[in-house]
Amino acid sequence: MNRIGVFTSGGDAPGMNAAIRAVVRAGIFYNKEIVGIYRGYEGMIEGDFEEMDVRSVANILQRGGTMLKSARSKEFRTPEGRKKAFEQLQKHNIDALIGIGGDGSFTGMHHLYLEHGIPYICIPGTIDNDIPGTDYTIGYDTATNTAVEAIDKIRDTALSHNRLFFIEVMGRDSGYIAINSGIAGGAVSIIIPEEETSIDELVEKLNRGGEKNKTSSLVVVAEGGKSGSAMEIARKVNEKSSYFDTKVTILGHLQRGGSPTYFDRVLASKMGVAAVEGLDQGKTDSMVGISHHEIIFNKFDDIMNQPKDIHKDDLRIAKILSI
Ligand code: F6P
Repeated sequence: MNRIGVFTSGGDAPGMNAAIRAVVRAGIFYNKEIVGIYRGYEGMIEGDFEEMDVRSVANILQRGGTMLKSARSKEFRTPEGRKKAFEQLQKHNIDALIGIGGDGSFTGMHHLYLEHGIPYICIPGTIDNDIPGTDYTIGYDTATNTAVEAIDKIRDTALSHNRLFFIEVMGRDSGYIAINSGIAGGAVSIIIPEEETSIDELVEKLNRGGEKNKTSSLVVVAEGGKSGSAMEIARKVNEKSSYFDTKVTILGHLQRGGSPTYFDRVLASKMGVAAVEGLDQGKTDSMVGISHHEIIFNKFDDIMNQPKDIHKDDLRIAKILSI
């Protein structure tokens, strides 16, 4: 394994640049050639490649987004698309891959490995923190901090106008951003996909707050919740009680941008170095992860068939604190 292709794929996440930098620099440190693949699997299929050196990754550590750009490729999901990508890799003598992305990116590399034997390591990069086999994914800490900052600002205006706000955060089918930004932002209720929410109980809780002279309230809603979007939940609450002056804020893609926190920069740096070292030691079909502050590797088949459970204790704490 002498020539490694590095790429980012799926939704971008703050810290991806730090991971690219770590892969390039560790690769060069271990005498490998590193090739940047632009636009994820799209660029792999089209041969959008560039040789990387130490300077190509200068001054990117602190930047959000991904210098290699990202995409979600439909074509790569087909065996024909993957064959095209493999032919491009062969043409450019790329004999191993390090991909930074979420579960779709990991699955893509797994298929490429099974069909064409390209060794690879996945680095988990997604704000959703929804990948099993790692305590944290790159970008989750920054996105959650961004959400908390926004919640704090909304609290100011909610207090001034005695309003009830429903704040929708990202996370796809996972409630990690919601639960932790909700605890950190002092939400009265946190609605996550991992738990059933009763609108009646929510209204009752909001009413109880009103009876105790609580003039404003914040409810954090994960976008993938079973009870619907923040907009739908606000509508259902208003149907049952006209007492509240209700507003909805959808934080959306602002959670994906911004300079990564120290935590995401360090996590990405550690994972980038570990991915190069892992490949060098013959590891493949695996994802690098972090567990109890230690770098670990997990095989695709050992983790990708399990859901990543939200910490039950976080839910318990959120409930105690929002009485
Ligand atoms: O997976 C990251 C994520 O930001 C999710 O939280 C969200 O559901 C999705 O991507 C949005 O995707 P897109 O940027 O393609 O709209």
